[in-house]
Amino acid sequence: MIIALNNKCNLLKDEFISYQLELAKLTSQKSNIILCPSTPYISMFNLENIELGSQNVSKNDIGAHTGEVSASQLASLNVKYCIIGHSERRQELYETSDDINLKIKNLLEKNITPILCVGETKQEKDNAKTTSKISKQIEIATKDLTQDEKSKIIIAYEPIWSIGTGLIPTIEEIDTTLSLIKELLPGVKTLYGGSANEENIEYLKKSELIDGYLLGGLSLKPAKLQIFINKAEN
Ligand code: PGA
Repeated sequence: MIIALNNKCNLLKDEFISYQLELAKLTSQKSNIILCPSTPYISMFNLENIELGSQNVSKNDIGAHTGEVSASQLASLNVKYCIIGHSERRQELYETSDDINLKIKNLLEKNITPILCVGETKQEKDNAKTTSKISKQIEIATKDLTQDEKSKIIIAYEPIWSIGTGLIPTIEEIDTTLSLIKELLPGVKTLYGGSANEENIEYLKKSELIDGYLLGGLSLKPAKLQIFINKAEN
């Protein structure tokens, strides 16, 4: 199972140091745990039980792009995974699926696994637009990629109305979307993200199509995270 930790824009430097000490104690039987810290802390990463991810990458390669971090720079810091197209970036920073397509290509070229986030708003859900929204997001984001390249991407299904709200979809809703994703991109691993926690994991586990989880709020609470991992694995 894949458990990706999205710290978002949280923790000050000293807090990150203490947090990493807590994460060092995390144990898992069969999960691949990936930490995606805030960018300044990527080079402070020193865990052996966890792999390193980034929350973003530039659509440009190395060069004159002030404030950006390129895939080749991430690769030089031993980053193995990168979250792409999180809804917060799409909404707050107007990131488009075409931008995301360029980012995916840059990452794959440097052997960094993209974790592509897709998901619908509450309004789209209510208007039965979930399938068309997600199909479109995937179609543009994976444009011009070979089948082999497509199969290397991890897709995180994150309903926007579920992120940070305490609300989760039903298993039927999750499975409908994950089977669509697996049909569009044969061979991909699919994560669920959005208010997943140590309590609702017992329910989420009922899905046979969830290959792992993308955790925001819970990623910042190592003790609860350990409970989540134990329950998810058993
Ligand atoms: P959440 O965030 O677990 O706090 O809902 C998930 C995410 O945005 O990746």
